[in-house]
Amino acid sequence: MKEELEKIREECQASLGLARTEPEISDIRVNVLGRKGSLTQLLKRLGTLPEDERREIGRRANEIKEDLEARVEECLRCIQEQERTEALEREKIDVTLPGRRMILGRKHPLTQTLDEIIHIFSRLGFEVVEGPEVELDYYNFEALNIPKGHPAREMQATFFISDDVVLRTHTSPVQVRTMEKKRPPVRVICPGAVYRCDSDPTHSPMFHQVEGLLVDRGITFSDLKGILTVFVHQMFGKETKLRFRPSFFPFTEPSAEIDIECFICGGKGCGVCSGTGWLEILGSGMVDPAVYRFVDYDPEEVTGFAFGMGIERIAMLKYGINDIRLFFTNDLRFLKQF
Ligand code: DAH
Repeated sequence: MKEELEKIREECQASLGLARTEPEISDIRVNVLGRKGSLTQLLKRLGTLPEDERREIGRRANEIKEDLEARVEECLRCIQEQERTEALEREKIDVTLPGRRMILGRKHPLTQTLDEIIHIFSRLGFEVVEGPEVELDYYNFEALNIPKGHPAREMQATFFISDDVVLRTHTSPVQVRTMEKKRPPVRVICPGAVYRCDSDPTHSPMFHQVEGLLVDRGITFSDLKGILTVFVHQMFGKETKLRFRPSFFPFTEPSAEIDIECFICGGKGCGVCSGTGWLEILGSGMVDPAVYRFVDYDPEEVTGFAFGMGIERIAMLKYGINDIRLFFTNDLRFLKQF
């Protein structure tokens, strides 16, 4: 039994020496020290030995048992330690690697242009209001002094939803909606999408306008000229030359269009300005008393001016873009330039 005992110890030590994984070590523990393990079985047989042999072998067997248990624990600890080290090595982060660049989006050039327009007018005390894109004929035409059969209706190729509902052809209806809700003083700009049945390099069936309206006691054409001159200088630079050219709109009287000097030819005349040296940027005028009647304002008491401009047109002039469709095809090569 003595030799048997030493053999168990030797074999166990040898196989622990070879074991590389936790399951291997657990197997050894079960096979030797487990309930049915070789050493446990041997200990059970001690009782069959004579008294003095039993004592001697028993002591030795317990020594070996404790020793093997300690070795098994030590081996397990070693392996766990090694696995932890390997895991740390595997998961190590190299903080010196160059980072992955984040691709930042940016605002669409039309949004940038509108933001700028809003910024300029809000510093002049204008408030932003909005109105519906699907509009009643009444607000789009009638209350703007464009009755049924008026030739001015022809100028705006209208998308009709039904006989008296249209896709708004301009942002001017928001003027009327605002005055219906609010008594003077009124100082608003109204940005938004508008629709006309028209498509070529400078016209899109959907585009954007900003409308402006200022009504109060004692407003004159000088106020219109002053405010719109400030706008042009802030938008296009304070050296920009501009002119007010008489025009006609059914909802303003008198009316004027504003031109800026062509920045391509410097006013000499070229293809972009069709030889005139000027580029039209907006329509404006003193609100026609006929419009006030629809909203119950007294034209004897208040006066005001209105203006309207195309955001695409302003952006095209400002950034030298020659095709309006570029705004809507979402080609990143175009959008990235802003
Ligand atoms: N609504 C006009 C258009 O779409 C632009 C315009 C001209 C608006 C003169 C105005 C204005 O408020 O006074 O062509």
